Amino acid sequence: MASTGPRNARLYVDGREDPIELPILEPSLGTDVIDIGRLTNEGYFTYDPGFVSTASCDSNITYIDGDAGTLLHRGYPIEQLAEQSDFVELCYLLLKGSLPSPSEKASYAAALVAERDVPQGVRDMVGHFSRDAHPMGIMTALTGALAAEYHQGLDITDEADRWDTCTRLIAKMPTLAALTYRHGKGKAYLPPRDDLSYAENFLYTTFADDENYTINPVIAKAMDRIFMLHADHEQNASTSTVRLAGSTGTNPYSAIAAGIAALWGPSHGGANEAVLNMLAEIGSPENIDAYVAKAKDRNDPFRVMGFGHRVYKNYDPRAKVMQDTCHEVFAELGVEGDPMLQMAQRLEKIALEDEFFIEKRLYPNVDFYSGITLKAVGIPTEMFTVIFTTGRTPGWIAHWREMVSEAYKIGRPRQLYRGQTARDYVPLAERG
Ligand code: CMC
Repeated sequence: MASTGPRNARLYVDGREDPIELPILEPSLGTDVIDIGRLTNEGYFTYDPGFVSTASCDSNITYIDGDAGTLLHRGYPIEQLAEQSDFVELCYLLLKGSLPSPSEKASYAAALVAERDVPQGVRDMVGHFSRDAHPMGIMTALTGALAAEYHQGLDITDEADRWDTCTRLIAKMPTLAALTYRHGKGKAYLPPRDDLSYAENFLYTTFADDENYTINPVIAKAMDRIFMLHADHEQNASTSTVRLAGSTGTNPYSAIAAGIAALWGPSHGGANEAVLNMLAEIGSPENIDAYVAKAKDRNDPFRVMGFGHRVYKNYDPRAKVMQDTCHEVFAELGVEGDPMLQMAQRLEKIALEDEFFIEKRLYPNVDFYSGITLKAVGIPTEMFTVIFTTGRTPGWIAHWREMVSEAYKIGRPRQLYRGQTARDYVPLAERG
């Protein structure tokens, strides 16, 4: 809609004579936003559990149109990026706002290579976890350890320090992921190699026994794409967690550790792991109908994992790319007949044709196919969310940097208090 100058929303409150005027902020794309910041001066808070109608910040990084199934990073559609770009370039784009020139890309890639290794103290720390400790718990701890290692002298008001932090985190995250995986397998740390791309190096440091490890280019490309598809998704729960933690001025590595903790949950990044567990529980195609019925039963907590999204009410564009990548990987590995893939396809078809799923606009999300692909690549189920963590790190840190590079306030929501009103303390002896 063409702008005709500043617009206001008017809030009429029972018992008040005049409406409260609230400015309407116009985005470059998407939904108009009513600025309610001054409501507190008028004696009101707003109430929005789950932040379903609340914009917590303004941002220039990523745009999602959930109805259209569109995802843009700095204006570029994810499908074009996934097809023509790569993860390192996408990191640069998310952080800088524009695609790098060839020389900028080369020097950025070199800076990431130079930061791949992790401090000895962090490497030693992993040995203190039991072999079956959950990788996401380990990743949270190791990222917290980076906060300790890189705290001294870090000045988040200095752009050079902020940039170094972004580079370090993006570069080191796959090394932490590989370290975590190898610990679970009882394998020693394998130092990163400078001659390998981001995804190749991840595969090498994760799976190799020695320098002679052969990297399959189809699998490396699939891993790069998986990282790309997870790179950013605007103000999701983990990114909002990073922003909220970061808004206190805390150490950014700690803010990312908080984001990793938030990502772990099955409603968020843990869904890819949950998809595999669900498929294992369903067991065989003839049970699918019964599980779809369970998902539709309001008295049953079961949900089809990998389906539905707070923002997408259409096919998640990442899920489409992920589905293609999944087929490429299965074809390369010669496992197209894998029962898990067959079952996933069957479940997807049944759910997409079901009235309940159509009415509630529940479509497959990125996690539906990423788990199956990762399994085929040889990544154990409990490592899936670690892969998501690695991919999402540029998004988290880009949002942190965007926030702290300008004036920002500590995030401090208010509440609708419904507890006891004031009462006098009763000494222990007088309580019955
Ligand atoms: N299976 C069955 N029913 C569902 C599902 C599902 N996967 N998702 C939502 N519904 C139903 C839900 O029961 C509710 O029904 P009713 O209106 O009768 O109460 C309705 O759809 C709306 O659901 P909601 O929970 O109010 O929606 P939400 O926006 O709060 O939740 C979600 C979004 C992603 C948490 C939810 O769809 C879900 O739990 N999906 C399964 C887990 C999953 O795949 N998560 C990954 C999200 S994408 C990756 C990421 O961003 O991290």
